[in-house]
Amino acid sequence: MTKPIVILGIFVADTAYRAERMPKMGETILGRSFVLGPGGKGSNQSVAAAMAGGRTHFITRLGKDDFAAIARSTWEKAGVRPEVSEDGESYTGAAFIFLEEATGNNAIIVSPGAAARISAQDLEERADLIRGASVFVTQLEQPIEAARAGLKIARAAGVTTILNPAPAAALDDALLALCDYLTPNESEAEGLTGLPVTTLAEAEAAADALLARGVGAVIITLGSNGALYRDKTRSVHVPVISAGPVVETTGAGDAFNGGFAVALSEGRDVVEAVRFGCATAGISVTRPGTAPSMPSRAEIDALLARQ
Ligand code: ATP
Ligand code: RIB
Repeated sequence: MTKPIVILGIFVADTAYRAERMPKMGETILGRSFVLGPGGKGSNQSVAAAMAGGRTHFITRLGKDDFAAIARSTWEKAGVRPEVSEDGESYTGAAFIFLEEATGNNAIIVSPGAAARISAQDLEERADLIRGASVFVTQLEQPIEAARAGLKIARAAGVTTILNPAPAAALDDALLALCDYLTPNESEAEGLTGLPVTTLAEAEAAADALLARGVGAVIITLGSNGALYRDKTRSVHVPVISAGPVVETTGAGDAFNGGFAVALSEGRDVVEAVRFGCATAGISVTRPGTAPSMPSRAEIDALLARQ
């Protein structure tokens, strides 16, 4: 049997407001719609991976409240195995998501709540689970030291490591050297390197800067331009895989990372795994929401078969 995928990250309740524009400071405006749903990058990636067929464990911290109940029912429906510490001294987090009516573009404030208290100790307590994984994935919404602890345990056991460096943060070279794959989007790649990333050539230069800092391989997701895969010997631009009209792109990066992890865990060639990630994301953007937009394995296989 394929070994499991272990993901560290946060769950939050996404509160998504669709409106014409952001209010100015001190101003109140009427919104067009509101949706409450499951979110948080790590949780979204876990849902994407489980729906795509990966045996997926999710390490996180929740409060003891109504949002925690949303988390548990989301994971149960998707088949995610929760590895949860309950934290009665804090709350399950939430994200404010502004969706611009005309463009669908988003601006997000995320407050991780209990998940901001995930510690290196939480990872040590699950070291055996991580050591038994095929792939370990994390992001930067929980404390970086927890990400570092998980990546270290995984690396020492020969488990493939993926860091999705989102939201953008300064990272030291020792942390980058623990990553087999780093998956920034364009603005995160800019933040990490100080280089502009607006063209494919610029993305290649930014990827080289990250490779020079010790990352095994870099995948820069390029929104509607697909993704760039680059390591020391190969550089491949994978175009977007369209599944229909775009409804909402929030969570596209999470769909990509979840799908990519599943394909790697199945032993696929890395560029094939990037295509699998693009197909997963290509379907997710045709639906509203983040975790609720993740496709099933049958849908991903059908889309890839049509290419
Ligand atoms: P988010 O932060 O909103 O979750 P992101 O900025 O991390 O997303 P993007 O680079 O925007 O991630 O997108 C990730 C992947 O999603 C892309 O590599 C691409 O495969 C897919 N994707 C994004 N936008 C589109 C689109 N308009 N049509 C099809 N696929 C898309
Ligand atoms: O990547 C999208 C996610 O980022 C949203 O679900 C929101 O919760 C933020 O964490």
